Amino acid sequence: MTTAKPASSSSQAGEFDLGALLAERGAERYELHTRHLNHQLPRMLHTIGFDKVYERAEGPYFWDADGNEYLDMLAGFGVMGLGRHHPVVRKALHDVLDAQLADLTRFDCQPLPGLLAEKLLAHSPHLDRVFFGNSGTEAVEGALKFARYATGKPRILYCDHAFHGLTTGALSVNGEDGFRDGFAPLLPDTALALGDLDALARELKKGDVAALVVEPIQGKGVHEAPPGYLRAAQELLHKHKALLILDEVQTGLGRTGDFYAYQHEDGVEPDLVCVAKALSGGYVPVGATLGKDWIFKKVYSSMDRVLVHSASFGSNAQAMAAGLAVLSVMENEQVVAGARATGEQLKSRLTALIDKYELLADVRGRGLMIGIEFGRPKSLKLRSRWTMLQAARKGLFAQMVVVPLLQRHRILTQVSGDHMEVIKLIPPLVIGEREVDRFVDAFTDVMDDAHSGGGLMWDFGKTLIKQAVANR
Ligand SMILES: Cc1ncc(COP(=O)(O)O)c(C=O)c1O
Repeated sequence: MTTAKPASSSSQAGEFDLGALLAERGAERYELHTRHLNHQLPRMLHTIGFDKVYERAEGPYFWDADGNEYLDMLAGFGVMGLGRHHPVVRKALHDVLDAQLADLTRFDCQPLPGLLAEKLLAHSPHLDRVFFGNSGTEAVEGALKFARYATGKPRILYCDHAFHGLTTGALSVNGEDGFRDGFAPLLPDTALALGDLDALARELKKGDVAALVVEPIQGKGVHEAPPGYLRAAQELLHKHKALLILDEVQTGLGRTGDFYAYQHEDGVEPDLVCVAKALSGGYVPVGATLGKDWIFKKVYSSMDRVLVHSASFGSNAQAMAAGLAVLSVMENEQVVAGARATGEQLKSRLTALIDKYELLADVRGRGLMIGIEFGRPKSLKLRSRWTMLQAARKGLFAQMVVVPLLQRHRILTQVSGDHMEVIKLIPPLVIGEREVDRFVDAFTDVMDDAHSGGGLMWDFGKTLIKQAVANR
């Protein structure tokens, strides 16, 4: 008698084989993007010489096909808070897959979301409940909806240069025209200058404001809310029965040397807090909107409203397991204290260079969220070159620094937003002295080159100018 092989046997010919697929087609990566995805990404990468083939990654490093090591000072826009492939997070994901949980039945209560909510709330004692979605922008959408429903008012205030995500609600509170243009009409909204309490008071008097949404340190340009602003804004908002939403999608989970950036100052107790990015462990997209009990009770006021704000993949077991593992590593490895100490070291070493380099205007930020701003040089020789770049497009000098950092020193950084002469450093929080040394040495070398006035760097600047003009 023959026994039929189960249909799910993994050794069957023709089964999906990821390794074989990558071996066979991996080399087509840039062509595939050009043909089927956003074609401007490969185009941009070719233009600035960033079209590398990275093959492997671990912690704050990745390696190209030739075995060259690259230092990551970008952390996948902040999602790799623990670096890539942290063994504890990996194990948690293997374990959760092997457990074959009855996940996403949608008509039961799974333990992992409750456990992750409990852990997150332990870091924010004045908050009571959590909604889990799948991204940062979704966490913000949730907060905007909750604030409008709970207050019964429509308008959201936000700050100039704010970035809260790119879905339509979050886009309505985006402080950059470049992102908004062509997508109107958006939600009723009003932008304020970060730190302007008079403007906030003026808007609140109109009586239609549900909330102010703020990043404690703005991702675009690395601008901090001025000391005392969040607390004073909170008081004003509450006086007018409006809410404070803090977007900690980028700044949260230790990035700035506190678990949340708002904890830098006493007395700030936001009504709603958004987190995402690093909670994923770099593996499973996740977003969380944390809030006060009365807000959740109002939104979910009856059994009929149980699904009024929900997401098919929200609270899925893989995301929850990754989040729990991330928070456990953060506690066991004292990641927040490490980020604070390493950040102070990096910032003070960079700040010391301001007197040495006339093109270096400012170093700011907290923890491992550091902005390096370039500015108009004093000497005539450099000033004419600087002016020429500025006339073509603001932000080209910062790009001129980012490119040799990768090309010559194999360090990945980014310009912190369009038309900004600011580089932002948001490395994995697990970097230490070795990485600080490597970055400062490389940055010093690039700055020496820029100040020598000649050389490849300014030639590259000319290429960028040509492209900027051609793209107009
Ligand atoms: C402060 C802030 N909020 C929201 C978002 C949006 O997050 P996501 O890209 O996961 O939608 C970002 C992303 O960079 C962010 O920095």
